[in-house]
Amino acid sequence: MTTPAQEARIDFLLGQMILDEKLGQLTQFASEIFTGPGFQRASDEEMIRKGQMGSMLGVVGASVVNRLQHIAVDESRLHIPLIFGFDVIHGHRTIFPIPLGLAASFDPALIEATSRTAAAEARADGIQWVFSPMVDIARDARWGRIAESAGEDPFLGSELARAYVRGYQGASLLDANSVAACVKHFAAYGAVVAGRDYNTVDMSETQLRQTYLPPYRAAIEAGAPTVMTSFNTLNGIPSSANKTLLTGILRQEWGFNGFTVSDWGAVRELIPHGIAATPAEAASSALEAGTDMDMESGTYREALPDLVRSGRLPIALVDSAVRRILQVKFSLGLFDQPYANASLPKYQSSPADRALARRAAEESFVLLKNDPPNVETAVPLTGAPLSHAPDEQGVLLPLNPASRQKITLIGPLADDSAQMLGPWSAAGDPHDVITLRQALEARLGSGLTYVRGTNIRDTSNAGFDSAVDAARHADIVILALGEDGPTMTGEATSRTRLDLPGNQEQLLEEVAKSGKPIILIVFSGRPLALPWATRHIPVILAAWFPGIEAGPALAATLFGESVPSGKLPAEFPYSVGQEPLYLAQLPTGRPADGIDLSRPPGNEYGDEKSHSRYIDEFNEPVYPFGWGLSYTAFHYSNVRAHATADGKLAVEADVTNSGSRKADEVVQLYFHRKAAPLEQPSRELKGFQRITLAPGEFRHVVFQLTQRDIAFYSAKDLIVGHNGEFDLWVGSSSAAKQEVHASSQAGSFHSR
Ligand code: NOJ
Repeated sequence: MTTPAQEARIDFLLGQMILDEKLGQLTQFASEIFTGPGFQRASDEEMIRKGQMGSMLGVVGASVVNRLQHIAVDESRLHIPLIFGFDVIHGHRTIFPIPLGLAASFDPALIEATSRTAAAEARADGIQWVFSPMVDIARDARWGRIAESAGEDPFLGSELARAYVRGYQGASLLDANSVAACVKHFAAYGAVVAGRDYNTVDMSETQLRQTYLPPYRAAIEAGAPTVMTSFNTLNGIPSSANKTLLTGILRQEWGFNGFTVSDWGAVRELIPHGIAATPAEAASSALEAGTDMDMESGTYREALPDLVRSGRLPIALVDSAVRRILQVKFSLGLFDQPYANASLPKYQSSPADRALARRAAEESFVLLKNDPPNVETAVPLTGAPLSHAPDEQGVLLPLNPASRQKITLIGPLADDSAQMLGPWSAAGDPHDVITLRQALEARLGSGLTYVRGTNIRDTSNAGFDSAVDAARHADIVILALGEDGPTMTGEATSRTRLDLPGNQEQLLEEVAKSGKPIILIVFSGRPLALPWATRHIPVILAAWFPGIEAGPALAATLFGESVPSGKLPAEFPYSVGQEPLYLAQLPTGRPADGIDLSRPPGNEYGDEKSHSRYIDEFNEPVYPFGWGLSYTAFHYSNVRAHATADGKLAVEADVTNSGSRKADEVVQLYFHRKAAPLEQPSRELKGFQRITLAPGEFRHVVFQLTQRDIAFYSAKDLIVGHNGEFDLWVGSSSAAKQEVHASSQAGSFHSR
């Protein structure tokens, strides 16, 4: 990471630094404007001048960053530059879909591109370090931070983690448009009990390594030089004091040689966690475990001096943490070029940025359902031909641009620009957003009627009458409903209900009584439970929070200029009681048979009671992992597997676009190991490829699996090359039916 000359400079600096300055390098604060109660401190400028703060977060803009940086570089004794970190989560100025939406694209190249754009914009604003990617596997829709994640799957999560890092960091951190990535939150934060934020995590080593750790490791292998600890306790020890995690796994096993930063205040939170009685205990256990930088709690500054001076904590521990932080500052070139170019005007998204934002939004949309109007859909959907075949006569989408139908647009998310930015839009500006109403008005003029109907969390039905009335006068009704991005999704927004908030469900049901064809666009930061809508509303499109090009992307999708291609990165349940709900579940000794629609309603699983199932709900999701419809039809054939000359297993399929529109398909490969010493998931993702096919075009798709790709953990051991048989499926979603079989014997693959 650093050159010998840089190491010599670090040695020199360490030799010069007094303890106060060393602890300065381990200290990060938000600008005093943001800093809440807790640590009493001097002003930013004074601390920087004295070398007491080596990093800041949440400061944005070249001129303010430069002003503070000049104090560090010109006025502090050792002239060490600050490193400025910022929460660039899904774009900086140009806001793309929320990460869960980006994940629905199943498109690493897209995510690399959005992250590259974010990096350049952040760097222009003086930021050299982004607190992203967030790679926590999230399998519980109650957890609000699922919005910031790539969803439930470690394979998808790892692919996307690498893409984020490649995008942020480019070919070199020295590039003027690159920023250092920070992979977070280490570790297993997504598995908090009952989906309640900051709650406890307790899990087996096998589960940790099999499911939760791979995306962090992928990001680190892609070159992320920093890691943020998580707020949660893992098996009894909070991450910021968890030596097994921060030193054992991260550094000794994975060879990570960057630095770690605590999450906000997490060092001092060791006290309420009950594992430290005093700030001194908190500081020493965090530093000893391997937390290098203390974000915002001030505990290192407060407590480490006494500990070091009294000999209770070796100075060598402080020195190595300082060294790691200085190494990253050197890697970013901050000692040579600490400043941003302040002569540039405030960054404005260019047409190319907007085009990328629009493409990202279009790829993120998941068409959950597209039926003809006025046909009640039988639930359960799962196991049945899920919804109507695309291209079938009579489905509602896409709308015909030439038909001049009168459209009524209803709902609190139809024209709210701030909402489209989601929970955490960094330096995003609602003024940059084009809403659905604006985009449809631009196309349809007076052909569009808009009525808000209700607010996101309203209980008053005062607006219902005018909404229903406007629906009656329309040919088509579009409802834009969902969650409140900023206050119901993201950090500290756990929910115990997964319904449409406020009275939106009621509004939907009232409007549906008009008998008009309805398109429901759901904006949300998590999978929602929409059983009524699934049964009664012909079209449901999951739009997440799409970013600045929300409106144009949605309008293009509704009118068929863009064909939906997003796939679910997390399953949509029937009800909240199914959570955590995810594909890769273990079969159990008493697996429920699966839904059989030929059985009478209420008895779809048959008479057998003592199986692993609910008595009042299905086991299956409404919309499974990987699910998403298109406007064209993709036909899969010739799914086959064979061993290759170089010892891999090739799994192949022919995919044909048998419909009438050019479109993207995400071809997915699923795997199940039949017998192993440890129970294995009934089905798990092992590959995906996004392809584009013109009508009638056919593609021969090949996946290659190595023994390592299908290895599994037994506690900390990775079992590679286990003998046995497996099933493989290739298709459009995890409900894929085309199956092949293969096996492995003595390290070689065999087709069966
Ligand atoms: C708390 C969040 O958990 C983390 O994701 C974020 O990066 C930091 N605060 C800094 O804002």
